[in-house]
Amino acid sequence: MASERIFFCPGLAMARFRAQGVPKPEPLLQSGRHGRPQDPSGKTLRSNRESWHGGCYAGAIPEITTAILPGHPQMNPTRLSFAALLTLAACATSHDTESGHVVAPPMQMQGSAFDAAGQVEITKSEPQQFDGLHNLFRLSDNISSGSEPEGEAAFAKLQAMGIKTILSVDGKAPDAALAKKHGMRYVHVPIRYRGITRQERLEIVKTFRELEAPFYVHCFHGRHRGPAATALGRIVLDKVSRGEAIAEMRQYFGTSEKYEGLYSTIALKEIPDAQATQACDFDFAAAHRFKGFRQAMVDITRSFGTTEKLAKTGWKATDDHPDANALNESRRTTESFRQALELEELSRRPESFRQLMQISAEDSEKLTELLAKHAKGSQESGALAKTVLKKLKADCKSCHARYRNAGY
Ligand code: HEC
Repeated sequence: MASERIFFCPGLAMARFRAQGVPKPEPLLQSGRHGRPQDPSGKTLRSNRESWHGGCYAGAIPEITTAILPGHPQMNPTRLSFAALLTLAACATSHDTESGHVVAPPMQMQGSAFDAAGQVEITKSEPQQFDGLHNLFRLSDNISSGSEPEGEAAFAKLQAMGIKTILSVDGKAPDAALAKKHGMRYVHVPIRYRGITRQERLEIVKTFRELEAPFYVHCFHGRHRGPAATALGRIVLDKVSRGEAIAEMRQYFGTSEKYEGLYSTIALKEIPDAQATQACDFDFAAAHRFKGFRQAMVDITRSFGTTEKLAKTGWKATDDHPDANALNESRRTTESFRQALELEELSRRPESFRQLMQISAEDSEKLTELLAKHAKGSQESGALAKTVLKKLKADCKSCHARYRNAGY
């Protein structure tokens, strides 16, 4: 069946090919049923009372025109009329759903996936907090998720929970040695805020299918990217519906509305089947190290995050970070911004992007100067530093909104 072409990954060569940005067909419209929209679990989405076709095809057309239509490879979509396209999309996709290759049919929704995530009812649950381990939810015997484990105590806790495999989707290379010391294996599949690519989905789902459970899944804070990867595990291992999976992201972890790309990945994108993940060549690497801009961001978010925490205590060390020193952390942030500005890859970014980086670097430098004065006893500088810190935080957000968060 022709549609299998889009569900199988014939080895690494194809995977790399895809990773290099070659347009990949992603069926958005999967169900041929013309009834009331339902979450695959059978739960009806409350807000979706009208016909769903209008909402669906508008989003699906750009994808269809770049894709080989499932089941109809001989037809050139660009030559088809609008109406014919719709019929074809609906038929072709119902064909797929019935063929058994679709792990979970994409949701049918009007509005955003974030909205849909608020409409599925799930049991209330509160996060657990431990030493070096935050925002932790034990979702099933197979999967727990939360923040990046920090320090011996956190790894010991995970070991005591019986965790066998830790999956990090953060940009920072994880501490595989410390995990190993506690009898656990680390796998690193760094993902971005804008969504999870097909190659990343293959690697994540392969990890869930082929490595030993229980899994602990994390990003940095355990709020956005980690919960999205967790949702994939919930669907393939625990067989929850896509609707429940996105409801957990929103209602448990608090994944932000800003990251609609993460929500829509789980609600709509293909989830590779077992044949696809078997065929995919992935060595479960424990540490993928980045160079350049992305690494600078990984470093900045840590030093800046600690500075933010210290601001709340009037620049004094906390129980959480007894050795932290706001001035040192701010110096590290400034240094990372300066180094990032020197990167060759920045010359390929738009002028406005470089300007935003320049402004952030200057704000960070200003913050460092004020903290240096505060360290010498100036209370006024300490107060001013808080204002500059807020400005710097706003710099991060505005650049991310413009250049980082939008979906693939
Ligand atoms: C001029 C634009 C810009 C500014 C300013 C900026 N960022 Fe970023 N940031 C980006 C882009 C673009 C990415 C995505 C890079 C990639 O994935 O290749 C990113 C990625 C990140 C990531 C994800 C790293 C990972 O794990 O892959 C974090 C965290 C982050 N930024 C934090 C911050 C913080 C904190 C600040 C402010 C102190 C900040 N950024 C300032 C543009 C910016």
